[in-house]
Amino acid sequence: ATHAPMAEKDCSSITPPYPLLIKKLDRVRELLGNRPLTLAEKILYSHLHDPEASLSGGKKLVRGETYLQLSPERVAMQDASAQMALLQFMSAGLPRCAVPTSIHCDHLIQANVGADADLQRSIENNKEVFEFLESAARKYGIEFWRPGSGIIHQIVLENYAAPGLLMLGTDSHTPNAGGLGLLAIGVGGADAVDAMTGTPWELKAPQIVGVHLTGKLNGWATPKDLILHLAGKLTVKGGTGRILEYFGPGVFNQSCTGLATVSNMGAEVGATTSTFPYTPNMRAYLQATGRAPVARAADEAAAKGFLAADEGAEYDEVIEINLSDLEPTINGPFTPDLATPLSRFGKFVKEQGWKDEISAGLIGSCTNSSYEDMTSVADLAKQAKAAGLTAKVPFLCTPGSEQIRATMERDEVTDVLQDVGATVLANACGPCIGQWKRDDKKGEENAILTSFNRNFKSRNDGNRLTMNFLASPTVVTAMSFSGKLTFNPMTDPIPLPTGGEFRFSPPSGQDLPSAGFTPGETSFYPRPTPEPQPETEVVIKPDSQRLEYLKPFPSHFGEGSGNPRGLEIPSLKVLMRVRGKCTTDHISAAGPWLKYKGHLTNISENLLITAVNDEGGEVNIAFDHEHEPGQSEADTIPGVAKRFKARNQPWALVVDENYGEGSAREHAALQPRFYGCAMIIARSFARIHETNLKKQGVLPLWFVDKADYSRIGSGDIVETVDLVDLFNGAQTETVGVKVTRRNGEIFTIPTRHTMSADQLKWLRAGSALNHIRSQIKS
Ligand code: F3S
Repeated sequence: ATHAPMAEKDCSSITPPYPLLIKKLDRVRELLGNRPLTLAEKILYSHLHDPEASLSGGKKLVRGETYLQLSPERVAMQDASAQMALLQFMSAGLPRCAVPTSIHCDHLIQANVGADADLQRSIENNKEVFEFLESAARKYGIEFWRPGSGIIHQIVLENYAAPGLLMLGTDSHTPNAGGLGLLAIGVGGADAVDAMTGTPWELKAPQIVGVHLTGKLNGWATPKDLILHLAGKLTVKGGTGRILEYFGPGVFNQSCTGLATVSNMGAEVGATTSTFPYTPNMRAYLQATGRAPVARAADEAAAKGFLAADEGAEYDEVIEINLSDLEPTINGPFTPDLATPLSRFGKFVKEQGWKDEISAGLIGSCTNSSYEDMTSVADLAKQAKAAGLTAKVPFLCTPGSEQIRATMERDEVTDVLQDVGATVLANACGPCIGQWKRDDKKGEENAILTSFNRNFKSRNDGNRLTMNFLASPTVVTAMSFSGKLTFNPMTDPIPLPTGGEFRFSPPSGQDLPSAGFTPGETSFYPRPTPEPQPETEVVIKPDSQRLEYLKPFPSHFGEGSGNPRGLEIPSLKVLMRVRGKCTTDHISAAGPWLKYKGHLTNISENLLITAVNDEGGEVNIAFDHEHEPGQSEADTIPGVAKRFKARNQPWALVVDENYGEGSAREHAALQPRFYGCAMIIARSFARIHETNLKKQGVLPLWFVDKADYSRIGSGDIVETVDLVDLFNGAQTETVGVKVTRRNGEIFTIPTRHTMSADQLKWLRAGSALNHIRSQIKS
């Protein structure tokens, strides 16, 4: 490699304890009868909290069935989700975090005019929250990455990720770190609190899908195209309950940051996470980012067979992909699994009748802001500039970290981009999470092209009519010079103002900087391995509109609950039947609501405001059949939820397929619970959201017969009939639900539950946190 390694950092707190992990794994192997293991199994099982308790005495470990009690080694949190996680952690009453933990200020930074001004304004607007996060970090010994330091996933990859590690992050794209051959799992704050309090973290042993990569990416095809292609194959649900484990020669000729992009977007198919065997490119990346000691330790662990699958390891499914056959792919609009190869995209656009126009090109974000990405797009920008072209549309670039930004600047990559009209935004999430102050396209149908990972309606600029197409940064860049949606940079020319035409050559980038990375502005960075300062006061103003202490949710059962039904959920009124796609963005919208992440009362005002009511087909309309005089029957969804809360009327939701898909946003579980939701019956759930509901004491149930969905409507009463048996230890997969319709009709339907013994304890206590608190006290 031609890159210069960075000076070695102190890596003692970030090097996984490989000898201990390997020893634990050896014991697990014995208990499992020495069968060959996949890499993902090795990492999971070497982090079992207590292998003897889980596996001795002939206990079986069945992927897709057995619940694992795990001990993650690290937690990372972004500024939006960290607020609620910390409020929960604080209520547990511990003096310090049980594992190294970091906070990253990235989601609350707005993109408006450019990096410096946007950063200053966002710091001012969010002062109270940043101060809260920083003081809590100081008190509990958490590493605090200030606004401007970069996006959580890029910083984790640059600083904390290490092969073979098991870590949790309170953000759904935490799997990005998998580019360094570890298991990084996106969770809600309550799960993070498990790790932070040293409570075993529970995960149903995922199935393992092997993705066998052969061949080599060439021409315009990039790692992004691999995952865009795979998303099209697997769909947004195809990875649910599964880990994607890549293997084969095609892994070894990709850069570490390229693999991180692939791993990042495993979240888009619902995968628990993604991982890769340890490669020489990972070693080079560790060295280039100052972590040679981690690389040396990983080399030794790899020599003992820890960092790759065993020969003969069995996968639940194997997908074959020949990288040599891959072409660039564009996914969208509105769903990340609508994949169209670039060569067919123009035809697709014409068939849909869309305007042949893009209104903006956006590159960077946590998904695609590596040095390789940035030098590849700079190569295209140079080609275009030499031909006298500048970007035809607003062209925005979000560096993933201060380190990337400073290195780009030093190596004149930034100059090249700005020369063709690019605006460089702050090192933060910005437009990727709806923090894009974009006024010119309000209410207008338009198409943007981004190198981001997610493209649900309203995600970027709050406009439901903005069609977001996901592509590689190089395709986004090239198309920004044409301004046309049907443009294929591999084949089509761009007419020049002076006459004649210009064609792009395939881009070429550099995976690591020849002169090494430069850290840039180091005042953004945390103190290394901070010790807790227990005397620090964590301030929440009593009249704050941004932060609010969390009150424990009451249990549904027992004394004081007002529930006469013993160990059955109280009688619930159905608030609404949600139709179709209902992601966590629909349940708890982001954008302007992000500022209320630490204030449950305020943020709950956005509950389900973009969900469609199946009774009537309208957005954000629910019906209150017992409305009081002076109240209308129809109201907004949070409006009706508030009425139910005021009447002490616990309620339920009936929802469609893959409910809660998209993210680890635990507010999507906290908010309904706050208003009194106790049960949700779905055609199916997304994994993280289902767990989040359980953590907050909401019972998720699956229709056994999906047609039963339409048999229940708003105002009906639903009651569990045999939940008590589950609490009493019955090994049954079903729970009966009695439905009393508004017209008096009564019937009982079977539903399926996924509650483990521990999760039943959470339900009984009212929330996982109530349960943890009672454990700590005893
Ligand atoms: Fe930030 Fe998540 Fe995008 S971490 S950059 S919002 S995918």
